[in-house]
Amino acid sequence: MTILDALKADHDEFKGMLKTILTTKDGGKRRQLFGEFKTKLTAHSRAEEKAFYRPLEKTEEGKAEALEGTVEHEIVDRLLADLAAARQPESQKWTARCSVLQELLEHHIEEEENDFFKTARKLFDRTVLEKMGKDFTSEKSKVGASTHSAIAAE
Ligand SMILES: [Fe+2]
Ligand SMILES: [Fe+2]
Repeated sequence: MTILDALKADHDEFKGMLKTILTTKDGGKRRQLFGEFKTKLTAHSRAEEKAFYRPLEKTEEGKAEALEGTVEHEIVDRLLADLAAARQPESQKWTARCSVLQELLEHHIEEEENDFFKTARKLFDRTVLEKMGKDFTSEKSKVGASTHSAIAAE
């Protein structure tokens, strides 16, 4: 599997998870779903930065996109932290903040899949994209494992 297919599969899952979170009314259930979403999205972002943005950043054509993507990840991280820390996930304020996250994420994913993917297809052949896919998957399991041990250590 190429990294582009792996990223796209995650993106589709995240869009679905956010929709479910926003249509869930119960605060406790929302918090639980959001916790799972945050863990998965964080692992995705860190692995994406290493396996996808870093090689792009090393090229003249991909550098600006990789840097812009990284800044968007920072904003997403901040919103994720705010939402996880906020009381009353069933409140209108939480819903508003989560809707902003949804808009931002949809915009970010659209840019990645349209612009970044196009640049990557131009720069890297299929063999390289498949190798990057393997790197992405192994990075993601590393980040995921360290997040779990951090939770277990709390
Ligand atoms: Fe992504
Ligand atoms: Fe991203």
